Amino acid sequence: MAAPMMRKGAALRSCLERSCGLSRRSPVFYKFIRRCTTQASNSDTVESSESEISSHADNGVPRPGVDLRRFSDIQEERRQEALRSVLVRHVGKATEDELTKFCSHFGEVQNCFTYGNQELYTLLEYKSRGSVHSLLNTSHFRSILEILPYRSRLLCFRTSNWMDNASRRPGMGEMTADQKFSILATKLCAAQSMEEQMQILVRETQLTEGETRLRFLVCSLVEDAITGYFPGCIVHPFGSSVNGFGNKGCDLDMYLNLNVEQHRTKKKKSFPRMEYEVRTVPTERAATQNLLSTVGQSLAEFVPSCRQLQYILHARCPLVKFMHEASGIQCDLTSNNSIALKSSELLNLYSRIDPRVRPLVYAVRHWARMHHITSSMPGGWITNFSLTALVIFFLQYTDKPVLPAIDALKGLADKTDTCVLEGNDCTLMSDLTKVPPSENTDSTDELLLEFFEFYSNFNFKNCGLNLRTGEMQEKKNFDALYIQNPFEQQLNLSKNVSMHQLEKFVQLAREAAWMAEQPDFLQPEVGSKGGVTPWGLVSILSGHNRRKKRLMDQKEFTPIFDSIKSGNSKRNVGPRIHLTEPAKFKSVLKSAKSRADKRTKNGNRR
Ligand code: GTP
Ligand code: MG
Repeated sequence: MAAPMMRKGAALRSCLERSCGLSRRSPVFYKFIRRCTTQASNSDTVESSESEISSHADNGVPRPGVDLRRFSDIQEERRQEALRSVLVRHVGKATEDELTKFCSHFGEVQNCFTYGNQELYTLLEYKSRGSVHSLLNTSHFRSILEILPYRSRLLCFRTSNWMDNASRRPGMGEMTADQKFSILATKLCAAQSMEEQMQILVRETQLTEGETRLRFLVCSLVEDAITGYFPGCIVHPFGSSVNGFGNKGCDLDMYLNLNVEQHRTKKKKSFPRMEYEVRTVPTERAATQNLLSTVGQSLAEFVPSCRQLQYILHARCPLVKFMHEASGIQCDLTSNNSIALKSSELLNLYSRIDPRVRPLVYAVRHWARMHHITSSMPGGWITNFSLTALVIFFLQYTDKPVLPAIDALKGLADKTDTCVLEGNDCTLMSDLTKVPPSENTDSTDELLLEFFEFYSNFNFKNCGLNLRTGEMQEKKNFDALYIQNPFEQQLNLSKNVSMHQLEKFVQLAREAAWMAEQPDFLQPEVGSKGGVTPWGLVSILSGHNRRKKRLMDQKEFTPIFDSIKSGNSKRNVGPRIHLTEPAKFKSVLKSAKSRADKRTKNGNRR
């Protein structure tokens, strides 16, 4: 086995040296090559981040690398970390060492994450919150004109030679999406199997520990500012920053909770009594719009680093968008949106129940983004949330389910998990150890191809998806895509999706399924210019396929996009994109795999 792997390593090395400009001596390079030439010992687990822990479930089944803590405990721990942290901009020549040394005078520094190119920033976490107060007590306002009514934990650190900017790193310039994908594709093409490609995709694109902390800190900084107006409020992150499926650079969804529940009188009302004088508003929605408008203005006027405020107050869910410049994170602030936080908890639970879920969702989300199926712009596109629901439903519905239905998760809840939000029962179990492992043994790449196969043939016209039962249901209206909202069960969470976008999704799923059938699907090939021709996951992500290219060159193949653009998207491009029968599907993948293995063993890599 060692010989072909070495050959692969050598071919890869020369290919990578040419395409990435990596030096032979680079340790990163050799680490990478070693990883590529070593068979993954446990290929169905994603490399665990610092915060992840190895645990055993109650039923004795080991779940390596899975964090089994309760979602609420993880959130609270992150929140406390953020409260013990400050974000510091380096001015001029100030280095990380000088900063850490200076900050150590106020208490023990527990963690430091430095980032940025032209402008350096350090997220610095103290062991105790008191140290943050000590640091703030000795910090200065630069000018009396700049004094704010609150002390921000976004600081800047100057040393005596701050006038000299020569030490600033040269700007690297933002890479284009194509450049980023080309680097990622090179790494994916160097993998041993499609399953490993899916693992690499997660590792390369997921939020890092530092990025996750930064997101909680940004919420905490915004909370500091709003607390001046609304004491006791909490700003929670939700969406992909916490649901286990976050990508580098994804937006930060924030939910401003005014904690009004604590002000509701619990005692029986009696007379005489004293009441607060309040301004009344006609509806709860109007109150939310007023609140966000006020908060937005104060962020724009007084809070450093909050720029490019946009008020989107008439959307179904009113929000304020802004750019947090110090972190480079695009933020969406909402209020009165506690169910969205619960939805994130649900996705987070699913992301940890089975180790195949994250690689699968990352691959599908990446595929959808590359093919412009999803978009962050409001419109008829499938949102990442709906797309993730499609993956979860497929995993619930497949023979031998990989994931349990939501009702089954509710059945495992204990008393402390009971949760009713805005009149909706949102109870979920929080103890992951109670979920029995799935009997399904399919690999992640098999599941990915089965996903495409499943939705290539799904009867969207008549059937809706019910994640609570894990079953299909009769559609209740004429919406193109019907996915019952898990917590507000009378609503369709994908109501916005247009027929055109749904057709595009189905056509591209068919194309992906077709690609997997091609004889060269799992065969890497080093081209004449030294680049590796896309194979496996890269073919699916990029839509590149050698046979398709040949067919297109020969004008035998009608591109799917053309048929959609011409408004004739119902036209069946099927004869050329021939779909495999579900039963045949796995055997196609297996035979492609064994063909690729044979080639590797024979050292027959061109
Ligand atoms: P990214 O695209 O990486 O930001 O993924 P995301 O999961 O954060 O999605 P997004 O920012 O679009 O949405 C954030 C949250 O808003 C989700 O977790 C949901 O709670 C909610 N949401 C988003 N899209 C929909 C939708 O189509 N329907 C409903 N009901 N809620 C949605
Ligand atoms: Mg988001």
